[in-house]
Amino acid sequence: MELRQVDIDKFNKGRESDNPRFWSRFSEKPDLTGATVLDVGCGWGSLCVDMALAGAQKVVGLDLKSELIDFANENLKQSYPELTKIVEFKDIDLKYYYDDVLFDFIVSKDTFEHIIDLAEMLGKMKKRLKPGGRVYAGFGPLYTSPYGDHDRRRTAFRSWRLWGRLLALIPWGHLLMESTLIEMSRRYRGRKINSVYDLGLNRMSVSDFRRVFRESGLSIIDFRVNQSNSIQSKVFSLLRRIAFLEDYCTHNIYCILEKR
Ligand SMILES: C[S@@+](CC[C@H](N)C(=O)[O-])C[C@H]1O[C@@H](n2cnc3c(N)ncnc32)[C@H](O)[C@@H]1O
Repeated sequence: MELRQVDIDKFNKGRESDNPRFWSRFSEKPDLTGATVLDVGCGWGSLCVDMALAGAQKVVGLDLKSELIDFANENLKQSYPELTKIVEFKDIDLKYYYDDVLFDFIVSKDTFEHIIDLAEMLGKMKKRLKPGGRVYAGFGPLYTSPYGDHDRRRTAFRSWRLWGRLLALIPWGHLLMESTLIEMSRRYRGRKINSVYDLGLNRMSVSDFRRVFRESGLSIIDFRVNQSNSIQSKVFSLLRRIAFLEDYCTHNIYCILEKR
């Protein structure tokens, strides 16, 4: 199988810039030496490769998109043959993965805002963690933040050309025109789009995430928000102190959860 340059670029960007930034946003980085790790929503697999190179004993990457898993497996074979006994990629939902295989760590990068039933997923994660095992999840933008539609507007309104691009620039615009966004997405994608969930977004705000984490039975060890050096993020961090603006001005979350 020949690897596409666009996928190789995504993988390299992960290793060179996205993954170091991901870890830097937590209060601490886990010691991966000899650890077993599960990556939920592993995408192109760069974080799994990094964790294996950092000394993990076993790394499993899961993603629902088979084309990404095909790339991750082939890239591993071609570029990191020495890791093929350590890293494993599978295109299955966690619920179908062995429930008797327990991990020291579960890591998830830029995926929690896409998982439609996060409460159920956290239950499955808890089941697969060793006692004392931890979840490291960092993700955003959250749906209720200014650009929480993950560019779905730009795509759906492509036929509107300049107007479409301008519409995509309006902060929180997707919240104001949600039904139009769904209708335009249905036309653009030509398949059943009946809700924001069908666009791969779970509509959760920071309050929703906090509640679901609290109800998961996992202990919240650390919960950081708006981890970014941009000026915009700093302004939002000030604005989110006003109670009713908190959900609208919190754009990412970096949290550590533990199974006691
Ligand atoms: C924005 S991508 C992030 C990929 C990778 N972690 C990265 O940072 O490059 C989100 C990924 O989560 C995956 N995903 C969404 N829901 C999932 C689920 N329930 N289980 C596993 N993967 C899921 C999607 O298929 C997608 O590849």
